[in-house]
Amino acid sequence: MNIINIEHISKVYQVGSEEVHAIMDISLRIDKNEYVAIMGPSGSGKSTLMNMLGCLDTPTSGIYDFKGVNVSQMSDNDLAKVRNKEIGFVFQTFNLLPRSDALHNVELPLIYAGVPSQERKERAREALVNVGLESRMHHKPNELSGGQRQRVAVARALVTRPAIILADEPTGNLDSKTGEDIMTLFNEIYLQGNTIILVTHEEYIAEHAARIIRIKDGLIERDEPVKNRFIPNGRKFTVNQ
Ligand SMILES: Nc1ncnc2c1ncn2[C@@H]1O[C@H](COP(=O)(O)OP(=O)(O)O)[C@@H](O)[C@H]1O
Ligand SMILES: [Mg+2]
Repeated sequence: MNIINIEHISKVYQVGSEEVHAIMDISLRIDKNEYVAIMGPSGSGKSTLMNMLGCLDTPTSGIYDFKGVNVSQMSDNDLAKVRNKEIGFVFQTFNLLPRSDALHNVELPLIYAGVPSQERKERAREALVNVGLESRMHHKPNELSGGQRQRVAVARALVTRPAIILADEPTGNLDSKTGEDIMTLFNEIYLQGNTIILVTHEEYIAEHAARIIRIKDGLIERDEPVKNRFIPNGRKFTVNQ
């Protein structure tokens, strides 16, 4: 079944008296357990598309069905519910709460979801173990390396067991070795049956995905499977050092 079914969406921003057509006309389907990279030059509409995929914004025209529900005209309040339950976000800048330790950062989406405290702690702990951070539960973001911070963010994205993970330039603030560790982690998450959509402008990062959608001027220029997927071999990161 398609998780995402988009038909002829557009997005027009009104800037003063000028209209900016950020998305012209995009249709696409994404199935459960796909691993998709979205690429395109700066200003091509990637973030606008991600915002719509992530139910942060609605299209000006066209239809967006998410898990069979039309979300294209939803109120902000209803969109927020879909988002909290179904979408895990990973950002370039990690977006962790600086004063909270890793465990509390990962617990947060479960607090919003109304999960009781005991279960919340167990699930947050499990998510952190899953990303190799069992020994860093009580460290605050500034006591963690960049790669570890991004792994906390990945654990936070996964803890609600969302239908999709959306990652906007997740390796953009990491050195190449650490970025590769994060891509190894994404591959594991993909192999566990998750659906991942990744925005990147780096070709070698995109080649970790199984499908690349190339956007230009608000249109899909190409949408193809990756012939020689780069498959990271094994968990390369180590924790206790
Ligand atoms: N909130 C906004 N208001 C007005 N114009 C915007 C807004 N967001 C993006 N745009 C414009 O829409 C186009 C696509 O932007 P964006 O989706 O951010 O591209 P990308 O992420 O590929 O760099 C650009 O021309 C940008 O200036
Ligand atoms: Mg962008």
